[in-house]
Amino acid sequence: MISLAMAVLLLLQACYNDNYQDLYPQPLNCDTTNVTFGKNVLPIITSNCTRCHSGAVPLGNISLENYNDVVASVNGGRFMGSIKHEQGYSAMPKGGGKLSDCDIKHIEIWVASGMPNN
Ligand code: HEC
Repeated sequence: MISLAMAVLLLLQACYNDNYQDLYPQPLNCDTTNVTFGKNVLPIITSNCTRCHSGAVPLGNISLENYNDVVASVNGGRFMGSIKHEQGYSAMPKGGGKLSDCDIKHIEIWVASGMPNN
């Protein structure tokens, strides 16, 4: 009798584990406090973008080497759509996976706060 109860319990546990992800999707593990250009935005660009968008002949004729370059690109109106893979934009980073939701969130927060050079 005890082992039957155990079996039922294990079965319930299994079902519970199966559905856990659906019932409680993982919260976005992303620290969105005190987002700055130097701490959050530039490292994303440096790791994912500047190997193509820097130097004497940057691809797409778009340089993203420093603060002024990134601000100019965002103001140019093609930056956010391209990293968010929106229709009508060339998806960036080209040939690579989309940036993480957290990376995109950090850039969005920085843009929404007026792109401070901090
Ligand atoms: C492997 C090289 C490569 C990487 C890495 C790359 N780009 Fe590009 N990017 C290009 C090329 C080439 C173009 C020109 C348009 C095209 O060919 O799609 C371009 C175009 C763009 C454009 C213009 C898009 C449009 O629709 O007008 C933006 C903005 C841009 N890149 C931003 C970025 C950002 C931000 C990153 C990093 C998250 C990045 N790129 C990473 C090669 C790259």
